Amino acid sequence: MTHPLWPLYDLRLTTRDATLGEVVLRVPTEAELPAFVGLASQGIHPPDEMPFSIPWTDLPSPEREQSSYQFYMRTRATWSADSWILTLGLWVDGQPAGFQDLRAEQFPRFRTVATGSWLGRAFQGRGIGRLMRQMVLALAFDHLGAEIAESEAFLDNPASNRVSLGVGYRPNGLGRQSRRDGVGDTQRFRMTVEDWRSRPRPSVRVDGLESCRALFGVD
Ligand SMILES: CC(C)(COP(=O)(O)OP(=O)(O)OC[C@H]1O[C@@H](n2cnc3c(N)ncnc32)[C@H](O)[C@@H]1OP(=O)(O)O)[C@@H](O)C(=O)NCCC(=O)NCCS
Repeated sequence: MTHPLWPLYDLRLTTRDATLGEVVLRVPTEAELPAFVGLASQGIHPPDEMPFSIPWTDLPSPEREQSSYQFYMRTRATWSADSWILTLGLWVDGQPAGFQDLRAEQFPRFRTVATGSWLGRAFQGRGIGRLMRQMVLALAFDHLGAEIAESEAFLDNPASNRVSLGVGYRPNGLGRQSRRDGVGDTQRFRMTVEDWRSRPRPSVRVDGLESCRALFGVD
């Protein structure tokens, strides 16, 4: 263990893709965050679209960068076994490429996780979104004992909706979320561990989990 105070820094998910090379998800150190925040500033979506219910990408600089920094540090500062958001940075062939989050409330009781993600625009549309979702679901279903994964995206976000469908979630009704000054209709998705195990999925290596298990509320 190299981070006895915060073993989540040692948690590392790795897969190898024939086209993309080595793909890694892990919690960025504070010193690594500026590269990710800078990537987000180069653009995640066209300005006339808004894929997020919290419109953080609309903030002017430097508030946008500062609020991102605060969010990523806040998820560490407020972590508890009862309520956690694992904010994993994504490296594709060594390059910071985006974020994949996994979160849960009362995980030991509900065994239910939810996800959120973004990629820098240069990394979009190459199958990375699907791969990073599968990587984090491998952690949840195969290592943490999750039974259900949920996801939700605005109806007009085809990339996110297709990632969920392609990975094996089933549509689970419609919802509504805040969208800038108004609201947007969403598609909800749900996948069980049985759905997950019935589908082809990449081989994901998980390192450094043992010392983190108590933080997730599992034995
Ligand atoms: C959502 C996101 C993470 C998906 O990652 P991605 O790497 O771009 O998606 P992938 O290349 O893995 O594509 C997954 C599927 O979506 C489809 N897709 C991707 N972009 C698309 C687009 N603009 N329009 C239609 N379909 C699209 C792909 O063809 C693929 O479909 P398939 O599984 O049927 O082959 C990424 O596009 C992104 O960061 N978007 C902006 C932020 C965002 O929307 N976050 C999620 C909020 S809920």
